[in-house]
Amino acid sequence: MELIDLRSDTVTKPTPEMREAMAKAEVGDDVYGDDPTTNRLQEMAANILGKEAALFVPSGTMGNLLSLLVHCQRGDEVIVGDKSHIYLNEAGGMSALGGIQPCPVRNQRDGTLALNDILASIRTEDVHHPITRLICLENTQNICGGVPLTPAYTREIGELAHKNNLSLHIDGARIFNAAVAQNVSVKELVVPADSVMFCLSKGLASPIGSMLVGSKKFIVRARHLRKMLGGGMRQVGILAAAGIISLENMIERLDDDHARARKMADGLKQIKGLVLDAGSPSTNMIYMNLTEDVKLDAAQIIEKMKPLGVLLDADDVRRFRLVTHCWVDDMAVQKVINAFREVLA
Ligand SMILES: Cc1ncc(COP(=O)(O)O)c(C=O)c1O
Repeated sequence: MELIDLRSDTVTKPTPEMREAMAKAEVGDDVYGDDPTTNRLQEMAANILGKEAALFVPSGTMGNLLSLLVHCQRGDEVIVGDKSHIYLNEAGGMSALGGIQPCPVRNQRDGTLALNDILASIRTEDVHHPITRLICLENTQNICGGVPLTPAYTREIGELAHKNNLSLHIDGARIFNAAVAQNVSVKELVVPADSVMFCLSKGLASPIGSMLVGSKKFIVRARHLRKMLGGGMRQVGILAAAGIISLENMIERLDDDHARARKMADGLKQIKGLVLDAGSPSTNMIYMNLTEDVKLDAAQIIEKMKPLGVLLDADDVRRFRLVTHCWVDDMAVQKVINAFREVLA
């Protein structure tokens, strides 16, 4: 049985076109800067985001870490959302490897950090204090519901950052979902950012890889640090070839993932026992809870859904996150709704 995998958009497998491009990719040693396919991907990424340069990195986590290491010195402080991936789900890399201290600020329900909260968190000049160096935003904000941050909000934070001598980094693992959902260009979303990381390996369906984008100077330093972390890759054009297909063919179709998430949500809302978060979904993620009268918990429901061909992830004991992506078609949407109806009957 073909499984419908809603655990994440990271489960997307490379498309047949990607596999063909990977097989034919022209390659060289990228540590020498000799891999033409990787160089092309990096140029494309920089152009699409409207920045000077880009660097291919193995993962989003490494991209974010490199950015923090470039922007900060040991002992510096970074303002991050308390529900951000960087703060919660990157193994404490900034502290362990960079000696950088996170300063968590509450994420509002719409994924934003309140301007006043940020302002209150910026350290004053005092011999006792660490130096605040950087603000990080996450777009789309995963844990707040996959919500997109707007260009206007990002501009405000950029102005606030630069006025206070801080840099702005965007964890844009799903920045293209944010752009497509708001019908704005990705450039517009990242204009105020000094650096941006985005993932090829999520909704854009590449097997591996993320891009770090910023000024030429920033990328030269990030490239050096990537080598230090063991991320200097050789004939990596094999992977970059898939990334090029991601950028050429997989961005506009994210709209289909959002439409299918909405269709799935419409069906799930009708099922007794499920309560979707207000406004969910904003992009390709549905967050929902089980009502108190449901006897099963999320783990038990996950087990019951498996033989019906649906793979799910629990976000908590009675909470799910369902993620749509290019391997979830219209038929799959209906099957998921039917499977939930059967299990909760
Ligand atoms: C918002 C966000 N940022 C960063 C990452 C890290 O990406 P990777 O899994 O490639 O390290 C993820 C991964 O799920 C994510 O959701």
